[in-house]
Amino acid sequence: MAGSRLPSTRSLAERWWVSRGTLEAVFDRLQSEGYVQRVAGSGTRVCAVIPEQFIAVPLARETPRRPVEPDQLDAGVQSHVPFVARRPDAGLFDLKTWARCISRGLSSVAPGVLEAAHPAGLPALRVQIADYLRSYRGMQCEADEVIVTIGIRHALDLIARSVLQPGDTACVEDPGYLPARRLFALAGAQVQGIPVTSEGLDTAQLPEIARLAYVTPAHQAPLGMTLSVSRRLALLDWAARADAWVVEDDYDSEYNYNTAPLAALKSLDSGDRVIYCGSFNKNLFPGLRVGFMVVPKVLRRSLLRTLQLTGHSVGASDQLGLVEFLRSGAFVRHLRASRQAYQARRDTLLECLGGHCAVSGQQAGLHFVLWLPAGVEEGDFCARAAEAGLTLQPLGKFCHDVTLPPAVIIGYTALTLAQIRYHGRTLAQLLMAA
Ligand SMILES: Cc1ncc(COP(=O)(O)O)c(C=O)c1O
Repeated sequence: MAGSRLPSTRSLAERWWVSRGTLEAVFDRLQSEGYVQRVAGSGTRVCAVIPEQFIAVPLARETPRRPVEPDQLDAGVQSHVPFVARRPDAGLFDLKTWARCISRGLSSVAPGVLEAAHPAGLPALRVQIADYLRSYRGMQCEADEVIVTIGIRHALDLIARSVLQPGDTACVEDPGYLPARRLFALAGAQVQGIPVTSEGLDTAQLPEIARLAYVTPAHQAPLGMTLSVSRRLALLDWAARADAWVVEDDYDSEYNYNTAPLAALKSLDSGDRVIYCGSFNKNLFPGLRVGFMVVPKVLRRSLLRTLQLTGHSVGASDQLGLVEFLRSGAFVRHLRASRQAYQARRDTLLECLGGHCAVSGQQAGLHFVLWLPAGVEEGDFCARAAEAGLTLQPLGKFCHDVTLPPAVIIGYTALTLAQIRYHGRTLAQLLMAA
């Protein structure tokens, strides 16, 4: 009862045969949570009002919980569904190591780090990312050019909000990555599609005036070619002439199966015009939500202002864990192992398909393009595939103004070898019957 006095810890210890130390700890805990009040010399009394009354609204009556409707997951973005594209296999990710990295990161951190606002991301993480980009993507960048994001789409959204004015022209690849087009349009930009040839974005077709051009130079999304060196130079030249920005989306460049990768476009950027966007969401696991940008000096402040305003940033625990993951070498070990696994999956699928079709873009990344026999309608083929349990994305979905021969996008990285053999045979049969 409120105000009543509790027996002393000494008498309770004798009555219950427990140590006094344990009872002192219990009383201290009850006091720290506001249930009792301990006054030296006058013992321990029950508080007049229990703490629950201060932290929860009074309930008129208990209402039964209604059953929750399950989320409808979009099949197009699920892993382990044959042949959903651009999904990594989170099963290859070593969660025990990750848990150790988070625990090590949290236990070594001073409370000030958790309290301080680091809108660009924890300095230690930016150092690790800059080191990685120097060693693996050939970029001469420093930690003060890096901004931690929750992924590439977040980076594109920040760019759209900070760099684009309504009516500006934003150039994107056609076919291309639809969220880039949509995010630039949301900011009020006039989005202009630029066709893609076997060398990547057709730079000769860029307009004289534009605010930015968005490209996927390492592995064009979705066609999969690499932007040639001469096109890279032409693009940077154009950006200087048009006083425009180049947005480099480096979404899957870690996975090369035939040759060493080309350095990032940003490595050639002597004019500081390239906004580089990378992500750990593909090479670690999609639920992680950590990415990064390397930004030109003059854009840094406005991008950070937008970032702070929207409050979208990665939690400190994940950032600290990632610092340890990168510093300890676990990240590069994971890249080596996942690359090996993905290459075996790709090879197995290509073997299953045999000579029944033409493919392209298979030299890198997490997907390739499967060209359908002439005259086959993409929608019909995808519908037949769906009846056989396969989820395929038609190439037409990525095209805005251009028309390309019929093709589908094939993802293989989030499937086991057994799944690939089984579903690969089905796909080969569908192709033969087409
Ligand atoms: C070309 C391209 N860029 C960016 C992304 C998304 O990256 P994030 O998950 O880091 O936003 C994807 C996802 O499939 C992609 O295909």
